[in-house]
Amino acid sequence: MTARNVRTQVGIVGAGPAGLMLARLLRLEGIDCVILENRSREEIEGTIRAGVLEQGTTDLLKRSGVGDRMVREGAVHEGIELRFGGRGHRIDFAALTGGKAVTLYPQHEVIKDLVKSRLDDGGEILFSVRDVRVGGLDAAVARIDCLDDSRPIAIECDYIAGCDGTHGVCRSAIPAGTLTTFERTYPFGWLGILCEAPPSSRELVYARHERGFALVSTRSPIVQRMYLQCDPADDAERWSEEAIWEELRTRLATHDGWAPREGRIFHKSVIGMRSMVTEPMRHGRLFLAGDAAHVVPPTGAKGLNLAVADVAVLARALAAYYATADTGLLDRYSQICLARVWKAQRFSWWMTSMLHCFPGADAFQQRLQLAELDYLAHSEAARRTLAENYVGLP
Ligand code: FAD
Ligand code: DHB
Repeated sequence: MTARNVRTQVGIVGAGPAGLMLARLLRLEGIDCVILENRSREEIEGTIRAGVLEQGTTDLLKRSGVGDRMVREGAVHEGIELRFGGRGHRIDFAALTGGKAVTLYPQHEVIKDLVKSRLDDGGEILFSVRDVRVGGLDAAVARIDCLDDSRPIAIECDYIAGCDGTHGVCRSAIPAGTLTTFERTYPFGWLGILCEAPPSSRELVYARHERGFALVSTRSPIVQRMYLQCDPADDAERWSEEAIWEELRTRLATHDGWAPREGRIFHKSVIGMRSMVTEPMRHGRLFLAGDAAHVVPPTGAKGLNLAVADVAVLARALAAYYATADTGLLDRYSQICLARVWKAQRFSWWMTSMLHCFPGADAFQQRLQLAELDYLAHSEAARRTLAENYVGLP
């Protein structure tokens, strides 16, 4: 088959939130790009992941003309509940942050909106490509090679955006010894479920219980999302529906008799929990963004939001470069992103440490955990710290 050669300004590897949002922002700046994705459109639009969008993420989606469905179908949440010792304590985001909130709108719906907007605009996404390789990172022109249905494609570009997630190829294309990776693996995972039931509470409930963490989230008036701390090696299939409900009832119970509203569970999966940051987030013509550069444990709901924040910086830096040939912002990309990434990393680590049971934790550690939660429940200053991080730092 004849090879296809493409020349573009920015080659984007990965059509997750980072890659698709970057393509949208570049389009608004009149910058040409090509997106390559190794899964099919159906797969990326059907993968169940995160659900909480920070204020800054929703503002950017709206400003970029891709927020209409989110505004119509998403649910604005002005607070969350922290539950421990059989009692709930509300954190009022709106009151503590000057009116900010988060929006519950599933990641795969964001993906659908971004894919549709790109295709409607006449932009291309190369789905289901194989053998993606990036090169020329230190040369005058960067290059991406892949196979599209056995047809070789060679893309020459000024810059590559490595938006290909944790298991992508971009990070590993950077010469050994140039990157430093900081990592933590947590000794637990989350069993996540989707069920057919009405909402159990008006807002999200984050619960700490001696048997482990539990989280009540939502997807729509008829579909709910809930999570349970579990062994990271657990097989979701070995959790029966009854065992899941029993555990959720126990961990979420309050003294006044609250219980989750139950319904048929139609999806369950186990996710591992880890923190990872790669420094710097750039090598030559390659910029890493989103999960390709950093991973957070899901407790702070930051993964998708960090991915979007990275590409907002990258799009601005590329726009400045193409407008004036000034590489100043591109040169500061990594430094600007990492300042925010480490704060989100700290918040996610803190929420995770405060709300989960650590195997082998002694009574002293458990008392400290409860003291921390009690402090939050009774100090407005502490609640404000949580609220401003949860709705998203600037
Ligand atoms: P991704 O969404 O991973 O997108 C990367 C894309 O690149 C993928 O579509 C992938 O197929 C593609 N790709 C990979 N390799 C290649 C290649 N070689 N060539 C071409 N394309 C490639 N965060 C939360 O805040 N809350 C949650 O509840 C939560 N749940 C999660 C559940 C799971 C199972 C996972 C994996 C993550 C979860 N996250 C959650 C994290 C959040 O979903 C991610 O932080 C977010 O998706 C990051 O976006 P991204 O665009 O950087 O990467
Ligand atoms: C959801 C996921 C999270 O990680 C979180 O902290 C809150 C909600 C969710 O999938 O709805």
